[in-house]
Amino acid sequence: MRIAFIGGGNMATALISSLFASRHNVDRIQVADPGAAARERLQRRWPVHCFENAADAIRDMDAIVLAVKPQVLPEVLDEIGDLVTNEQLVISIVAGIHTSQIAAKLKSNSPIVRTMPNTPALIGLGITGMYAPITCNLAQRELTQNLMESAGEVVWLERENLLDVVTAVSGSGPAYFCYLVECLRNAGTRLGLPADVAARLALYTAYGASSMAVRSDADVTELRARVTTKGGTTQAAMDILEAGHFAELVDSAIAAATKRGEELSEEGLQT
Ligand SMILES: NC(=O)c1ccc[n+]([C@@H]2O[C@H](COP(=O)([O-])OP(=O)(O)OC[C@H]3O[C@@H](n4cnc5c(N)ncnc54)[C@H](OP(=O)(O)O)[C@@H]3O)[C@@H](O)[C@H]2O)c1
Repeated sequence: MRIAFIGGGNMATALISSLFASRHNVDRIQVADPGAAARERLQRRWPVHCFENAADAIRDMDAIVLAVKPQVLPEVLDEIGDLVTNEQLVISIVAGIHTSQIAAKLKSNSPIVRTMPNTPALIGLGITGMYAPITCNLAQRELTQNLMESAGEVVWLERENLLDVVTAVSGSGPAYFCYLVECLRNAGTRLGLPADVAARLALYTAYGASSMAVRSDADVTELRARVTTKGGTTQAAMDILEAGHFAELVDSAIAAATKRGEELSEEGLQT
């Protein structure tokens, strides 16, 4: 398997790191990035072949991973649109850009799989939402799944527009959990804990609670109930969260992120 990454930034680095860590069956990895520092950083860590231009990096590769920012994608597709062949699988991790928008810029009828990973992919604990149009065959789906599974879990979506919801829930999700950790840490500090102690308590509680939930057969609602005794301390906190309409607030936040994703898709690739 020969894979070209277009863009050698955070997400490409996470995937490349995971591919090497998981001893995935990869014969060759090529990366295109205009930044000399980014290319050097990648080449110092892994046996990858780096190029300044996307056109040079994709030649003879089996799969092409589009890993640039959405606003850079039109420029990249202008560069490689005529060069991608029918045999090359195109995997996009670019937020908000539809498979049809990418297909419209390619001269070939290459299969295109769209994915939405998240930053815990950097440590192999990501989760990626994936969508493949019916034109993608089983082997192409499996290939993408194997690639993304090296960085964590994957879920397939039946409809492409659900990727906007995936973006809102898990793509942006790490930021919400960090925000909650920040809030817990600041509340603990305000109530007298040393700042470093409050920070450790908040962070390890998030780590422990999510690790426990992942390993447990019980649903998170049940796990929450187990630490919420009627009239106890957790209940006192939950009462305040419910009175402040915490669940509705999260609903609105995720709806806003989904809507923003839809808007960005509409703006995307308008050149
Ligand atoms: N970060 C996330 O949480 C996350 C989650 C899911 C999906 N994504 C998606 O993943 C994609 C990449 O995100 P990222 O966080 O990895 O961004 P990033 O760190 O900025 O990486 C993008 C890289 O592409 C390079 N680049 C710019 N123009 C290029 C060109 N013409 N050809 C090749 N490379 C070029 C950039 O170089 P310069 O810096 O020199 O411009 C940069 O090194 C985005 O589309 C984003 O929507 C990100």
